[in-house]
Amino acid sequence: MLELLLWLAACRCDGGTTPLPAPDAHYAEFDHLVDLAAMGSVAPARELARDLDVADDDAKLASAAGYTQTALDAEELADGVAAMAAACGACHAQDHVTTSTARPPFDHEHAARWAIWGLVWGPQEADSESKAAQAIAACSSCHAKAPGAR
Ligand code: HEC
Ligand code: HEC
Repeated sequence: MLELLLWLAACRCDGGTTPLPAPDAHYAEFDHLVDLAAMGSVAPARELARDLDVADDDAKLASAAGYTQTALDAEELADGVAAMAAACGACHAQDHVTTSTARPPFDHEHAARWAIWGLVWGPQEADSESKAAQAIAACSSCHAKAPGAR
């Protein structure tokens, strides 16, 4: 009983985040959203951002997801996805959540996921969100125009 009370008390002090579902359900599709953004697939990405249904989890993430859901072009989409990843990373840092999943390689095909991984799991550097957004926008500047490249 005492342990339960202590646990509840500790829980109230951590900024009011509620426990999230298991990792499988916990934004498993986010990598797919990153890929869609890198390919400049605006409409499917907007739809997926809506399907992730983050509204109740975290205010920062919900606001970034809202932006992504209404992105007008590939650049706004890149900004939205990077802002979402920064919100993921802020909560993980606050809750001291780490991952055993390795960072993707820094090469042509994985550079967008590499940058996003840094936001979701890495130490938060001041300009990492804008760098990730630029990386994704760069991918889509080729891939959206030449969908055959995918
Ligand atoms: C409000 C806090 C919060 C937000 C926002 C959040 N997470 Fe998490 N995340 C957690 C917590 C707590 C865990 C550990 C418990 C669990 O697995 O649910 C976790 C675990 C995970 C894991 C499993 C890690 C591993 O390797 O075991 C993944 C993957 C993940 N989060 C991805 C994301 C992504 C992507 C986003 C943003 C779209 C995100 N999370 C947003 C709190 C958050
Ligand atoms: C300068 C234009 C350009 C840029 C920028 C670019 N790509 Fe590509 N990408 C291509 C072309 C062209 C191919 C096809 C190459 C081939 O098939 O040999 C390709 C292939 C790929 C493939 C493999 C597709 C497949 O099915 O084999 C992936 C994945 C990919 N790019 C992702 C990315 C990502 C992620 C970024 C940004 C970090 C990016 N690309 C940036 C032009 C570009």
